[in-house]
Amino acid sequence: MKENKKHQLIWPKINKKIENAVLAQLKKSISIYNKSDIFERFENKFAKYYNRKFSLLCNSGTTAIHSMFVAINIKSGDEVICPAYTFFATVTPILFTGAKPILCDCDENGNISPSEIEKKINKKTKAVIVTHMWGVPAQIDKIKEICKKNKITLLEDCSHAHGAIYKKRLVGSFGDISAWSLQGSKNITGGEGGIITTNNKKLYERALLLGHYNKRCFQEISSKNKLT
Ligand SMILES: Cc1ncc(COP(=O)(O)O)c(C=O)c1O
Repeated sequence: MKENKKHQLIWPKINKKIENAVLAQLKKSISIYNKSDIFERFENKFAKYYNRKFSLLCNSGTTAIHSMFVAINIKSGDEVICPAYTFFATVTPILFTGAKPILCDCDENGNISPSEIEKKINKKTKAVIVTHMWGVPAQIDKIKEICKKNKITLLEDCSHAHGAIYKKRLVGSFGDISAWSLQGSKNITGGEGGIITTNNKKLYERALLLGHYNKRCFQEISSKNKLT
């Protein structure tokens, strides 16, 4: 059967301006070691858009999510409540920390259900991670309230939801830390890449530990932070 190319969505749209910017960057530098140059500009713009103090670019959305789990320092014996319906990478990085993912059922929109989360909470629960599937926001205000009441960290996987708004507020601005994939098919794309944002300096500094060695860690982790 012949594909109907006329109705196919081409994404991302690559125009001359983008081509020129990529070529200019290739000639300038193909590796950026710290918060500088185009990384700094992008991180600052992204953080400003989400009204967050800190942002950190990563090589993928998967690494961005992994960084969130490193940042909150979960270990063997801890549990993280996760959506049963999501992309693998929302959950699989938990396994590298030794903590246990607890799969939780979804509401009618396919997003993790607040009432199901409440049923899964126990003494071992350290965090809840929410995915806003296909750009449809989860009931994030209710989930935030539950996390606050139970002193649990809230993480958001916004990989499908760049710019999505829930009750007049951008999703990604509710969680203690939030992550986005910037992979090729996403609303905002860097070809491959990911980003996290947070308002918490300690969490940001711990997130740097996953692969941002040397310059960036030396320059940005304060000597007062014992990284405990
Ligand atoms: C919901 C969700 N989370 C995380 C990821 C992982 O992102 P990446 O492919 O950039 O590692 C994806 C990728 O498609 C995703 O859809």
